[in-house]
Amino acid sequence: MKRDFLAIADCTANELREILSLGARLKRELKSGQRTPLVAGKTLAMIFEKPSLRTRVTFQVGMTQLGGYAVYLTPSDIRLGERESVADIARNLERLVDFIMARTMKHDSLTELAKAASTTPVINGLSDLLHPCQVLSDCFTVLERRGSLENQRIAFLGDGNNMANSWISAAARFGFTFALACPEGYEPEASVVAAARADGADIVVTHDPSEALSDADVAYTDVWASMGQEEEAEERKAVFAPFQLNAAALAQAKNDALVMHCLPAHRGEEVTAEVIDGPASIVFDQAENRLHVQKAILVWLNDQLLRQA
Ligand code: CP
Ligand code: NVA
Repeated sequence: MKRDFLAIADCTANELREILSLGARLKRELKSGQRTPLVAGKTLAMIFEKPSLRTRVTFQVGMTQLGGYAVYLTPSDIRLGERESVADIARNLERLVDFIMARTMKHDSLTELAKAASTTPVINGLSDLLHPCQVLSDCFTVLERRGSLENQRIAFLGDGNNMANSWISAAARFGFTFALACPEGYEPEASVVAAARADGADIVVTHDPSEALSDADVAYTDVWASMGQEEEAEERKAVFAPFQLNAAALAQAKNDALVMHCLPAHRGEEVTAEVIDGPASIVFDQAENRLHVQKAILVWLNDQLLRQA
C-alpha cells in the first residue's frame, strides 16, 4: 500500500523523527551548496483551492532542488468536484504524476483524492481540519532551537483550528505539552483531542490565556479567521481580542520563550507588531524550514514507494 501524508496522526513517532532527521540533512547539504537529486525526473501536481505563498513556493522550489518538477493547478483550473469529480481528478493524475499535494476546503476531499489515487502518494497542503506540513516543520524549528521537543510547553492562543488540531496530534507523537487558550465555542476538533489523549498526550484546552502561557517555552498564534471564514472576520475580531499575543501576554511565558506564527500574520489582530517583529520571534525560520521538511516528506514518501517495488 502506498503511503500518504494527510495527518501527523497517520505516522508513527519513529517515522516522524526519520523525516525530521532527513530534513536536517537536506538543510545542511543545501547550505553547503549541495543539491542531491533524490527524486530525479519525478513530478508533483499541486492542487490549490485556497491561496498560498509559502506552501506553493516551498513545494515547487523543493521539487526543483530534488531534481523533479512541480505543476501548479489553480483553483479556477480544475474546480475540484465541480468541473470534474474528486475521484476522477485523482484517477487522471495518478497516471500522469508521481505525487499529489492538495490544499482543500474540505478535509474529505483530501481523503477522497488519496483513496482514488491508489498508487500515488497524496500530501495535505492544508485543509479545514489539519495543516500537518506546517506543524511538522514547526516541530523541526523548535528542535533546532531547543535540541529536544519532549520537555517543551507550546502555548497556542487563538482558534482551535487546523493548526491547533495538527499541534495536538504532534504532541501525542513527540511528547511535548500543548496548551491551547481559545474562546468558548472555538475549541479544537474533539476527535483529534480524544485520539491524542488516548495516545498519552498532555493537552490543555482552556479559555484563559494566562493558564496556557504559564511556564510556556513557545508562544504560538495564528489568524483568527482562517481561509474560507472571511465573512466571520469582523465578528471574530471581537471574540478573539482577549487572546491577542502582545507584550503583556508574552511576559506571562518563560523569559526566553520563542514567538511562533505559521503566517500570514495580521499585525494588530492576533499578534502585535512589537511581538512578531521582536527578538523572540522565529517566524521566518519557520517559513524557511517548510522547504527542508517538505523535501524530506517527498523523499520519505518516495522511499516508501521504492521499498514496495
Ligand atoms: N503557512 C502557510 O501555509 O502559508 P501559505 O498559506 O502562504 O502557504
Ligand atoms: N489557519 C490558517 C492557516 C494558514 C496557514 C488558515 O487555514 O487559513
